Amino acid sequence: MEFYKGWYAAISSSEIIRGKPTAIKRFGQDLVAWRNTDGKPVIMKDSCPHRSVKLSLGTIKEGNIRCAFHGFEFDNVGSCTLVPETAKPAPNLKCSVIKSSESHGLIWLWHGPEGEATEKPEWFEELNDDFAWSQYSSQFPCHITRCIENQLDYAHLPFIHATTIGGNFDLNGIDSNFELDDKTIKLQLKTGYFKFKFPNIWTLQILPERFHQFIAFVPVDAQNTLLYVRAYQKFSTFPGIRQMLGLILNIQSQQILQQDRRVVLSHPAYSSSLAEHEKLYPSDQGIAWFRKRWAEVTGDDIK
Ligand code: FES
Ligand SMILES: [Fe+2]
Repeated sequence: MEFYKGWYAAISSSEIIRGKPTAIKRFGQDLVAWRNTDGKPVIMKDSCPHRSVKLSLGTIKEGNIRCAFHGFEFDNVGSCTLVPETAKPAPNLKCSVIKSSESHGLIWLWHGPEGEATEKPEWFEELNDDFAWSQYSSQFPCHITRCIENQLDYAHLPFIHATTIGGNFDLNGIDSNFELDDKTIKLQLKTGYFKFKFPNIWTLQILPERFHQFIAFVPVDAQNTLLYVRAYQKFSTFPGIRQMLGLILNIQSQQILQQDRRVVLSHPAYSSSLAEHEKLYPSDQGIAWFRKRWAEVTGDDIK
């Protein structure tokens, strides 16, 4: 499976609650997510090293996860702390733990050799605590590369989004001078910009300083991508109004995403790295750079 090496925004923090293991699938792997006594997330392969049943069926007991089948307990580094039939720990019996961190309401997973993990995930510094945000999620049954490329492509706006944001979009008025570097793809637009940070977060500034759309593209497996979509806004400082605006903005964005969905799902099911036959035009400059970097920094064949 082909995925870029790096920190991925991978799970919404609100989905993992204390005291309850939760089954999730990321990078094609079944995982269990839970929180230890400090509330820190722990992400493990969802398989008990005793006889391979799902740990997500278990329970949380005193900061450890307990398998539902025979009650073996594991701590937050995956070591077995108790085998009930011997009444002893079994330190050599280990669950695989995936390196994770939590910030900005997201749990991030490192994909790649653990020793190569950078200190912390990339973020958009402009999305700071002055903004209120609201979120929804939507799953696209297609490869992550196609979902991301759709958000780097502005030339579809007057066609796919003619009835929403693309109605007055003048393609001739856009200078396709992308700013490209190892970590970022950015395009300045007349009234804002869009920016992507490898491997999987994107933002669009629509009204300077006041409103950003944000998406984290989360690889469930090679055929499915989960999108966490957020509206960041500071139109008002009143919590009630912020909440209501968040709901309205999310409804609008769902309508726009629905327009994208129809075409994005009609791509062939494989990664865009296999789409060498496609003819890219100047507006596709960001996509070309995305494909190049994605191929260079693949974190594949690492388990
Ligand atoms: S399979 Fe988990 S304790 Fe036996
Ligand atoms: Fe679109």
